[in-house]
Amino acid sequence: MMRLFVIGAALIGGGLAATSTYAVPSTAPTNAAQLDPAPVGMSYEFFTFPSYHTNVTATPQCEKNLKDASGTWLPIRIGGTTQDLSYTVASDKDAPKILKFEPSFMKLAGQYEGSVTLGLNRGHNDVQNTVAAARSAKEQMPNLLAIEMGNEPEYFKNDGQPIAKGTWDAATDAASQASWQISIGKAVGNIIQASNSLQNPPQWGAEQLLNAHNSSAIGYVKTFSHHNYPGGSIQSLMSHANVVKNMNTFRNDVAVAKRAGKQYVFGETNSATGGGAANVSPSFGAGLWVADVCLRAATLGISRLYFHHGTIGACQYCWWGRYSMGAPYYGAMFATAAFGGGTSIVPIDSGNSRHAAYVIFGADGKPVRAALYNSDYFAGSGSRGNHVFVLTGLTGESVKTKKLSAASATSRVDQGASPTWGGQKYEDGTCKITGTETRETVAVEGGRASFTVGASEAVLVYL
Ligand SMILES: *[C@@H]1O[C@H](CO)[C@@H](O)[C@H](O)[C@H]1NC(C)=O
Ligand SMILES: *[C@@H]1O[C@H](CO)[C@@H](O)[C@H](O)[C@H]1NC(C)=O
Repeated sequence: MMRLFVIGAALIGGGLAATSTYAVPSTAPTNAAQLDPAPVGMSYEFFTFPSYHTNVTATPQCEKNLKDASGTWLPIRIGGTTQDLSYTVASDKDAPKILKFEPSFMKLAGQYEGSVTLGLNRGHNDVQNTVAAARSAKEQMPNLLAIEMGNEPEYFKNDGQPIAKGTWDAATDAASQASWQISIGKAVGNIIQASNSLQNPPQWGAEQLLNAHNSSAIGYVKTFSHHNYPGGSIQSLMSHANVVKNMNTFRNDVAVAKRAGKQYVFGETNSATGGGAANVSPSFGAGLWVADVCLRAATLGISRLYFHHGTIGACQYCWWGRYSMGAPYYGAMFATAAFGGGTSIVPIDSGNSRHAAYVIFGADGKPVRAALYNSDYFAGSGSRGNHVFVLTGLTGESVKTKKLSAASATSRVDQGASPTWGGQKYEDGTCKITGTETRETVAVEGGRASFTVGASEAVLVYL
């Protein structure tokens, strides 16, 4: 792995700006992580999915903007706490307090142009009902990528889910997952997305399930999914060192899953649980976290991250709603553009500083983009610091850059302080791109170029 080599200081614009130097590999190193065609995805809470996709004007345009940045429709996952509900085809004999959903739900999900992972019910302990739902999904959804059975099973007991009557712990859940994988897998094939836990590995996770399961149960697993909501303040959330630390919690679980030939995804993630934290999740700092966590997770081999979207109008971390955009959407755009259909990625920063640098390689193994992020916290008062990233190993005479910025890390769209991405914004209510795209040209001399990135800003370099 590349490391930063020099830490020095340079006078920039009258202020003292720290400099660090990063070597851009001329070809993808053998340890570069392979990239999914579209690592940045969205998770729609099960019961809100139809509204997002039929009754929120911004949704199709916001999804299309992301598609245009990467060349691939963003993958979606439909699930969450409300996935553990019953499927019904006709007669309605169950208790009325049990939520139901119908084949029209699958039909709507099947119309999405990207891949869909669908979360189904295990909590109610009615395997035949879930087999019927899975069959219907398989029939009506040409875009079906994977099926989950049960959301965050470690909470089944507390939530009073019937399946958790009696003993319910990681071991009983593992046995339950195995037997459901076999039942559902026999009906629809090896497309199971297993685990789906929120509590960190190794207590809950891929390794624990791989150890507990026999080959028939594992044969039906396509992906392992974990959920992750780091929480904290804007400053701690967006800190690059904290992002690295949090992602390292998953390093072993991802590696174990990959050795078993399975993909690893974050089936649900976002800045804070419960729809987000009011003073943190709508901020530009949370948007910078989105950008950095996507890039860092990808370097570990996490294939896709599905950012969760809950109740419309009561969703602090949402990328958009009916009336307003969310600043985190800008971070998603940055990460999506950085991946941009690339083939592999490496981090070239030390992993323990406030500054992040990643290189993305194309199919020919040549570097195509570098993503630079200065996670120094700027809350809007005093002068904004910056950091100079010196990249070496560049070719050509100049490179273009595009900047992700806002007035401060605390900026919020709904408070009149929208971030900009390459000088452009997304219009409230429609998600239409406004403004003219700005790219700067930076000279390369002797294979080196310097990029000044403000505190709480990120820059994408097109190599
Ligand atoms: C669409 O959203 C509006 C605004 O919340 C709501 O009043 C209406 O009932 C919704 N329509 C449907 C079909 O869900
Ligand atoms: C795996 O365990 C299941 C019971 O959960 C059993 O039906 C199946 O035969 C086992 N498969 C193998 C290969 O042992």
